[in-house]
Amino acid sequence: MSFYIAGTGSALPRKKVSNDDLSKMMDTSDEWIRTRTGIRNRRVITDETLTSLTADAAHIALRDAQLSAQDIDLVICATMRGDTVTPSQACLTAAALGIQAPCFDVNAACSAMLYCFEIADSFMRADKAKNVLVLACEAMSKQIDWSDRATCVLFGDGAAAVVLRKGEGLLSQTMVCAPNPTTIYTPAPDGDSPFSTAEKQKSALHMDGTETYKFAVNVMIGQMEAALAAAELDVADIAYVLPHQANIRIIEAARKRFNIPEEKVLTNISEYGNMSATSIPVLLDENAKAGKFRKGDKLLLVAFGAGMTAAATVLTWNK
Ligand code: ACO
Repeated sequence: MSFYIAGTGSALPRKKVSNDDLSKMMDTSDEWIRTRTGIRNRRVITDETLTSLTADAAHIALRDAQLSAQDIDLVICATMRGDTVTPSQACLTAAALGIQAPCFDVNAACSAMLYCFEIADSFMRADKAKNVLVLACEAMSKQIDWSDRATCVLFGDGAAAVVLRKGEGLLSQTMVCAPNPTTIYTPAPDGDSPFSTAEKQKSALHMDGTETYKFAVNVMIGQMEAALAAAELDVADIAYVLPHQANIRIIEAARKRFNIPEEKVLTNISEYGNMSATSIPVLLDENAKAGKFRKGDKLLLVAFGAGMTAAATVLTWNK
């Protein structure tokens, strides 16, 4: 089908925050966080911007793909909230890189990277792009309520980039949404209109963890089955699964359902927590750079998140 992954890159904030660091700030413990989620550390933005991080990640991905900024014909950024409400984060990063191409953001929470792949596929098939730069970034530390221990311990900040080139690689994609405005939501910043009569809401992430957990396990399994069927593959054909990193227990439930050997399911949640749409491309980049993937390996990427959205991609590693 339309594209293959030609380059990857990632950039993480310098500041590492451990569970023990958090337990000095709130009523929590390393034991609770580790056993309930698998998270030990996360990175948190201090003086970095999403633009500086995505630009760093994109430079690495472009070098990896042996392309320059001038070769890119489309920039899409997976994010819930960039450095500015407008322009989009894709525009901000393109300006930093000197790219002249259409730019826009995709907000599909943790599934957004794979939603971007679907859009890139459409542009490639329509002959409207040959080289697409897909970015992902999230400053979760600026979106969470730091007084809510049930959510703030789960998330981390980061940025990643993937260069997609026209060619053979993509085998199947699936994408769904079960629209639901209450299970996970972040109110938009209120502004200060003198005419507004609505009560002001804090712009922070709210999540019903139990509802999200149930949705996540079911939809992950459903999306994996659908993407494998669309690619006409069996799970045994897959070299590695790269799941969204929200909770190690959710990943384990899906792994056991398909009876996949542990070493085939890649994770980095322990070091970074949930970086929303950024989790999968950081995982992809780290494992690619570690030489894990061989040319011809089949990879299954699967994500779920607020919306409630979910998506899966099966592709051949053709780099
Ligand atoms: N430290 C210590 N105790 C805590 C903490 C904490 N950080 N957070 C909650 N607790 C307490 C609760 O208050 C509760 O106490 P109680 O029994 O006295 O009331 C107890 O721990 C158990 O809480 P539960 O919510 O039942 O814990 P659970 O085992 O369900 O784990 C969790 C919670 C980790 C949030 C889990 O539900 C989960 O992972 N859900 C899915 C989250 C997810 O996948 N999000 C992804 C999408 S995010 C996006 O799209 C932006």
